[in-house]
Amino acid sequence: MKIELKDGKEVEIVQLSSEIPVINLCEYINTLVEEDIFIRTDRPFCFEEEERYIFDVLEGMRKNEQDYLAVLYGKKVVGGITARRGIGKERNNVEMGIGILKEFRGIGLGEILLKEMVKRVREKMNPENIYLHTASGNKPAICLYEKMGFRKIATLPKWMKHKGEYYDMYWMVLV
Ligand SMILES: CC(C)(COP(=O)(O)OP(=O)(O)OC[C@H]1O[C@@H](n2cnc3c(N)ncnc32)[C@H](O)[C@@H]1OP(=O)(O)O)[C@@H](O)C(=O)NCCC(=O)NCCS
Repeated sequence: MKIELKDGKEVEIVQLSSEIPVINLCEYINTLVEEDIFIRTDRPFCFEEEERYIFDVLEGMRKNEQDYLAVLYGKKVVGGITARRGIGKERNNVEMGIGILKEFRGIGLGEILLKEMVKRVREKMNPENIYLHTASGNKPAICLYEKMGFRKIATLPKWMKHKGEYYDMYWMVLV
């Protein structure tokens, strides 16, 4: 799916496949890690770790337990969104996660990705709940999720230590 963003850049949203070089996916996630934003990961992934992760996601996609959309700008991966089923008796809950590189934020991509993934998850996984979590200091994420219809259902106090300060963790469910 080719998309023109609000600033005129053209990107392509594709389902994760072995055709996307692991090194490009690794560069994408490590750029987010190095920016030191409100994500859990606090150290870069090496190629082998990313390769194993991608292998597991592809396996999860084959079993309809996971989904992953990547955003390509040329060959560069500039964004991604994941969806993953819970396990066992919690398998009808699907958790999402999203990350976009700095130069591609604020131009509508987050909204497009979230809408597309919600549609795919509803069609393919038929879940009872679609949810995500975010640190209380992550205003762009909270605003995006609220705009898309997610509502805060729980707060874990002082859950993430980010740049020396504790932040609550909000769990948000799509209503
Ligand atoms: C959170 C994130 C996915 C938002 O994506 P985005 O592409 O920048 O968002 P969009 O341009 O589609 O904006 C959609 C809505 O999100 C909200 N939003 C986006 N950026 C915002 C900002 N800087 N401040 C406040 N609200 C913001 C607004 O409600 C916006 O709607 P509007 O344009 O009508 O005001 C993006 O900032 C990101 O990837 N951040 C780094 C990784 C991260 O924090 N991931 C989430 C972890 S929980």
